[in-house]
Amino acid sequence: MEIGIIVYSKTGNTYSVAEKLQKKLKADGHSVELGEVKPVGDVKPDIKNITFENKPDIDTYDAVIFGSPVHAFSLAPAMKEYLNQIQSLEGKKVACYVTKGLPFKSTGGKQAISQMTEIIQSKGGNILGTDILVWKGGKLENIIKLVDKLSALF
Ligand SMILES: Cc1cc2nc3c(=O)[nH]c(=O)nc-3n(C[C@H](O)[C@H](O)[C@H](O)COP(=O)(O)O)c2cc1C
Repeated sequence: MEIGIIVYSKTGNTYSVAEKLQKKLKADGHSVELGEVKPVGDVKPDIKNITFENKPDIDTYDAVIFGSPVHAFSLAPAMKEYLNQIQSLEGKKVACYVTKGLPFKSTGGKQAISQMTEIIQSKGGNILGTDILVWKGGKLENIIKLVDKLSALF
């Protein structure tokens, strides 16, 4: 399967998970490209107009995995805007994940995932699964759990 992993990552955590996911999916026999959403300038949670320095194209993929950090108890605005600008996800298998810093309930993980799934479904994407990773210093065991869960969907 041709898979695109598309991430926004402000400080590198979400990106490092994507690299491990890419490695695993490649080992499973898929063709996997990793694309990074890059907004122009520093995107603050209350920003109104976001423009992009890099906006990966997902048209050629059979499946797409989107990854983003949680910002201000919500989906990071750069990923939200990127997803909103996608024309169509019709016929594509989709998975998504978020990484977050706070280990407590109601600190944005579920909210961010539901924002992502709502936009993805509105574009016709078929969501196979989602995951939330509490960063905890990048504990390898937790990253591997996410990688195993999401890679098993494809
Ligand atoms: C502006 C900003 C807002 C954040 N807000 C939250 C939050 O509401 N809840 C949470 O659990 N973590 C929050 N975090 C922590 C990040 O979600 C976490 O460190 C994440 O793994 C960063 O991913 P990245 O390195 O890919 O950018 C916030 C971080 C930043 C920079």
